[in-house]
Amino acid sequence: MKIRQSTAEDFEALYLLDQACFTAEIAYSRRTLRAFLRLPNMMCLVSDAPDGIAGFILTDHEGALGHVVTLDVAAAFRRRQLGSALLAEAEGRLAAEGVREMEIETATSNEAAIAFWKKHGYLASGILDGYYGKGLDAYWMTKKLIKDRGL
Ligand SMILES: CC(C)(COP(=O)(O)OP(=O)(O)OC[C@H]1O[C@@H](n2cnc3c(N)ncnc32)[C@H](O)[C@@H]1OP(=O)(O)O)[C@@H](O)C(=O)NCCC(=O)NCCS
Repeated sequence: MKIRQSTAEDFEALYLLDQACFTAEIAYSRRTLRAFLRLPNMMCLVSDAPDGIAGFILTDHEGALGHVVTLDVAAAFRRRQLGSALLAEAEGRLAAEGVREMEIETATSNEAAIAFWKKHGYLASGILDGYYGKGLDAYWMTKKLIKDRGL
């Protein structure tokens, strides 16, 4: 599966996929998504589908700390290792930039995502009460890239 950097033309497809992947409380508005994409260290990697975007990952980093803002795979493309491929590509690029530790927030109710992150070596390091709004808590999950990459 080919993974490429996103371009400005992808914006609406990214927005629609994010809306499809998350509930209204968690999905990003156009305004928020646009603001993320404009941040200096933001990286957005995309995998194309024949009629749109199959998945994308959005990351940010500051110094040695990398942050997965979101990872979205369209329902029709799930459990085909696309999310894993996007994450591996992003982690590899971030490691090359000097990132040594990754973090992600994911809703405590999102069982698929929690299983996914655990499979990729992310450990729940804390609970963020009300992170997505009242009663919607998140796990703060982290992973050291150095150990996993044998550096
Ligand atoms: C979480 C998500 C990104 C996973 O993407 P994916 O392409 O389906 O994941 P992969 O095929 O690479 O899965 C890798 C492993 O993660 C685990 N996993 C993924 N989805 C799972 C599920 N629904 N239930 C249990 N384990 C799951 C499995 O161990 C899987 O390996 P296997 O298929 O060999 O058993 C995808 O389900 C998604 O986009 N969900 C909606 C948005 C979201 O929740 N994003 C993450 C929060 S930021």
